[in-house]
Amino acid sequence: MHRFVSSILLCFVVVAPLMNLRALADVVTCSGIVPMRDRSDIVSITEFGGVGDGVTMNTEAFRAVIYRIQRLRSSGGTLLYIPPGVYLTGSFNLTSHMTLYLARGAVIKATQDTTNWPLIAPLPSYGRGRERPGGRYMSFIHGDGLHDVIITGENGTIDGQGEIWWNMWRQRTLEFTRPNLVEFMHSQRIIISNVVFQNSPFWNIHPVYCSNVVIKNVTILAPLDSPNTDGIDPDSSSHVCIEDSYISTGDDLVAVKSGWDEYGIAYNRPSSDITIRRVTGSSPFAGIAVGSETSGGVENVLAEHINLYNMGVGIHLKTNIGRGGFIRNITVSDVYVENARKGIKIAGDVGDHPDGKFDPNALPVVKGVTIKNVWGENVQQPGSIHGLRNSPFTGICLSNIKLGGGTGPRKTPWQCSDVSGGAVEVSPWPCSELTTTHQTGECSIPF
Ligand SMILES: *[C@@H]1O[C@H](CO)[C@@H](O)[C@H](O)[C@H]1NC(C)=O
Ligand SMILES: *[C@@H]1O[C@H](CO)[C@@H](O)[C@H](O)[C@H]1NC(C)=O
Ligand SMILES: *[C@@H]1O[C@H](CO)[C@@H](O)[C@H](O)[C@H]1NC(C)=O
Ligand SMILES: *[C@@H]1O[C@H](CO)[C@@H](O)[C@H](O)[C@H]1NC(C)=O
Repeated sequence: MHRFVSSILLCFVVVAPLMNLRALADVVTCSGIVPMRDRSDIVSITEFGGVGDGVTMNTEAFRAVIYRIQRLRSSGGTLLYIPPGVYLTGSFNLTSHMTLYLARGAVIKATQDTTNWPLIAPLPSYGRGRERPGGRYMSFIHGDGLHDVIITGENGTIDGQGEIWWNMWRQRTLEFTRPNLVEFMHSQRIIISNVVFQNSPFWNIHPVYCSNVVIKNVTILAPLDSPNTDGIDPDSSSHVCIEDSYISTGDDLVAVKSGWDEYGIAYNRPSSDITIRRVTGSSPFAGIAVGSETSGGVENVLAEHINLYNMGVGIHLKTNIGRGGFIRNITVSDVYVENARKGIKIAGDVGDHPDGKFDPNALPVVKGVTIKNVWGENVQQPGSIHGLRNSPFTGICLSNIKLGGGTGPRKTPWQCSDVSGGAVEVSPWPCSELTTTHQTGECSIPF
């Protein structure tokens, strides 16, 4: 118990004073994955006609300045400075070797005139838009085939004004899939830090087919009832590191994905080497999620020092029949959950299919999941693990987990089926499918 309490304390000590991170000598960080750049060439959006009065449209100013950065190719790249003010704009593309820098008080705000919002092709690993067939609306801030891009500043805001899109979803009048707030496709060496993202129309930050991406010290906010406003979704991407961030949205805070059913299986691009640490937040859905789109496979995920308040599910690994792919070598540790419907959920029947062409024999493989040092208060159901009859989940290893406090008629015990692995120091006790010893050889739980 002592060790347990002290690890929780340590966790708070690490999370609370974000400002003093540098003072803590042994804090592990994302540094090294993407080199930080100082740009000597600096331009301001105002030099290109940008007006931060909250009314003037700045779409042409953004396009003009990005064109200038792309054409001039200043060695060492260019910093685009956004001074304090509210810059209303349509969606725009970034280019390589640039820093988008939002000063304190700078807001880049999406237009609410959605009639001419650009459409782009569906992602090949999804075969269609995620919510509507066909193409999808381009993300508000978009990057395709880029490298060496930084979005940073002094806590400025990128505001998607998503309400108009949420209402189209609610009224079922959406023609195509809603835009993400920021999306990078086929890009490398991306840093996103010290920015506030708010009211995304759909997912907030979506790196897809990317590698070497660092997202740190960001704040992501959307109302708890805003549909599908996932925080950060690393998708068919590798070497992604997310840390020191606060996320409160209407859907999963961080969800690692890799494509949808037969399209994701054919595209075959996994998400791998994903680190998530020191993330705090709230959501009616999951805190740390893998899936449910995992058809290209998800492996080597480490999530640690996560603090979750008022949650649907704390940790959620989800896949489905027809997905194929795999979820393996996932470690989640040092998680605090307060007020949740469920602490841990691992399930093989989550999410819908792109169309009727999915292969019902394409069964996902879920193998090697370690969840340790999880402490929850007022959690109605500690957990459930439901594998697939023809593809049981194996090597599911739980240790040092205390998820209690749920009271009253809604309190439910653990439920398990089609799963094997081990459990040590888990209270309340999970299920007979998980052994207390290492006799299956599936778990090597460190103590
Ligand atoms: C922005 O990028 C998208 C996708 O790569 C492309 O279709 C579109 O033409 C670009 N728009 C501009 C203004 O460059
Ligand atoms: C986090 O972002 C805030 C606001 O931009 C800044 O004041 C603070 O120094 C940042 N912390 C780190 C560790 O970068
Ligand atoms: C950054 O902005 C967010 C949202 O407005 C706020 O919650 C946070 O305290 C700010 N951080 C700093 C260091 O100013
Ligand atoms: C499992 O994932 C971790 C990252 O969480 C990584 O360090 C380790 O090398 C992976 N193990 C294997 C066997 O790939």
